[in-house]
Amino acid sequence: MNRAFSLYALFLILFLIFQHVQSANNIVHDTCKKIKAGDTDLNFDYCVKSLESNPESHKADLKGLGLIGLELLQGNLTSIVEYIEELLKQKWEPRLRDALSLCLDVYSTNEGQDQIPAYKAKLYDDVGSWASSVMTDEDTCDTQESQNEGMVPPLTKRNNEIVQLSTIVLGVLAILQGE
Ligand SMILES: *[C@@H]1O[C@H](CO)[C@@H](O)[C@H](O)[C@H]1NC(C)=O
Repeated sequence: MNRAFSLYALFLILFLIFQHVQSANNIVHDTCKKIKAGDTDLNFDYCVKSLESNPESHKADLKGLGLIGLELLQGNLTSIVEYIEELLKQKWEPRLRDALSLCLDVYSTNEGQDQIPAYKAKLYDDVGSWASSVMTDEDTCDTQESQNEGMVPPLTKRNNEIVQLSTIVLGVLAILQGE
């Protein structure tokens, strides 16, 4: 092989890799943009960052991104349940203890129900009702049936993540079902 040709081939390969990475990045951005268009509560930067936290997102299609979002939501749901269980081992004033217990009750109803088989089988309505119900859990926990958010301060940050991740999952499902 002559030298000019190898150089040419090298640049061509680099160019193709670059294009591939570009388009992979774009699917995360495009998807988060579409979700945000349908639901302004979505935090665009959080959406991009959370999906990109999984290296697979770079080669995923829309369905694959939905799977990544679902895994993150399920993981965060398990983690908030375990976190509340730990918190409840500490001393709290009665009002906050009751608030934490309500959060544990509602989140526990949807935790540990693996939705991945249903998602893979394209049972999008089923996965969607589960994700909506997680969002309702969050609302109940965070507002304690009042109009005000942030009623359980130790959980505010984690509750927000649950809302964002549910929004991502529901958003991808809506796009998948509209296709
Ligand atoms: C919760 O979601 C974030 C993405 O926003 C992710 O980085 C983190 O690993 C998730 N936690 C669990 C326990 O899955």
